Amino acid sequence: MIRTHALTKVFRARDREVTALDHVDLDVAEGEIFGVLGRSGAGKSTLIRCVNLLERPTSGTVAVGGRELTALSARDLRAERLRIGMIFQHFNLLSSRDVAGNVAVPLEIAGVGRAERNRKVAELLELVGLSGHAKAYPAQLSGGQKQRVGIARALANDPRVLLCDEATSALDPETTRSILDLLRDLRSSLGLTILLITHEMDVVKSICDSAALMEDGRVVESGSVADLLTRPDSRLARDMFPLGGPVDGKGSTVVDITFRGEETAHPFVSTLARTYNVDVNILGAAVETVGGRQVGRMRIALDGGFEQNVVPIGYLREQGLQVDVLDADADVAGAVDGPAAGRIVGARIAATAPGAAPTFAKEA
Ligand SMILES: Nc1ncnc2c1ncn2[C@@H]1O[C@H](COP(=O)(O)OP(=O)(O)OP(=O)(O)O)[C@@H](O)[C@H]1O
Ligand SMILES: [Mg+2]
Repeated sequence: MIRTHALTKVFRARDREVTALDHVDLDVAEGEIFGVLGRSGAGKSTLIRCVNLLERPTSGTVAVGGRELTALSARDLRAERLRIGMIFQHFNLLSSRDVAGNVAVPLEIAGVGRAERNRKVAELLELVGLSGHAKAYPAQLSGGQKQRVGIARALANDPRVLLCDEATSALDPETTRSILDLLRDLRSSLGLTILLITHEMDVVKSICDSAALMEDGRVVESGSVADLLTRPDSRLARDMFPLGGPVDGKGSTVVDITFRGEETAHPFVSTLARTYNVDVNILGAAVETVGGRQVGRMRIALDGGFEQNVVPIGYLREQGLQVDVLDADADVAGAVDGPAAGRIVGARIAATAPGAAPTFAKEA
């Protein structure tokens, strides 16, 4: 639904050049909720602004719904843009207009007549749960209600695509939850495709089907959340499911098991203990439901060295679980940007720092 190819944006100020986007290839499938994560300055907002061409890319292409926006005339582009809604961190509501008046803005711009406008505004307010607040002014609303107005306004022209730039960053956790639930419902009821930017791993975990990690204008990792989880070197997966258990494998072999879908690690671990008569010590586990499927990781210690545990480890792998044997001597590395984040030795992977924050700290 949204596809960028080699999308590049260079900002030029007198004696300085900033490459905000560097050959970004993004592929967001229809009906998907796609999250873009990254630190402050990584290029996330520039990416979203280039997707609806509020910002002209320096080079590369953007296509939405199969139409290449970068090739359209100004007039055709204006028409296409109506089908792309956008919501913002700070809502951007007009303080002089009431809720209904704010939602009506895009309809007025599109030249929709008064009667139809009123009907549509009422329908949109119903959709976002604000029917009783049509006459309220933004100053009389909570943050969550303001964002609902922002969402209603973004949906006024029946867009196929919704772009969200840090839409929940100004909200408390409970309100964030309710806005994310609303976005998920709208995706289903309206068949929307949602591209959202966030620095909160929890947002990705709770509603995204796919995610990309940006760094210095480049996409350094992307894929479906479930697939990312099974990549031993995925930073997104490690930050989503940090395992806090110790790595010191004195007299034992420490193993990380990643599982998803219908399987869970628990029955395999108990079967393992019974069948091979090994002591299995569970050091840490992070299990979550992502998109209705259980996914997670478990860190276990098996008695004895690696050689003594080759057979039980083979058994786990045969069950379709991803099994990574930890290098007991590896440094415990930082989750997000530690210098040796996840040292990989063959099939071995270093641990995530205990208690590493599963978010991208905002530097602002
Ligand atoms: N209009 C502009 N002129 C010059 N440089 C810009 C402009 N807009 C963005 N940049 C630069 O491009 C880079 C990416 O900025 P961008 O706003 O896309 O980052 P971001 O990932 O959205 O960060 P944040 O999480 O803080 O919102 C930064 O180095 C920024 O300073
Ligand atoms: Mg930004």
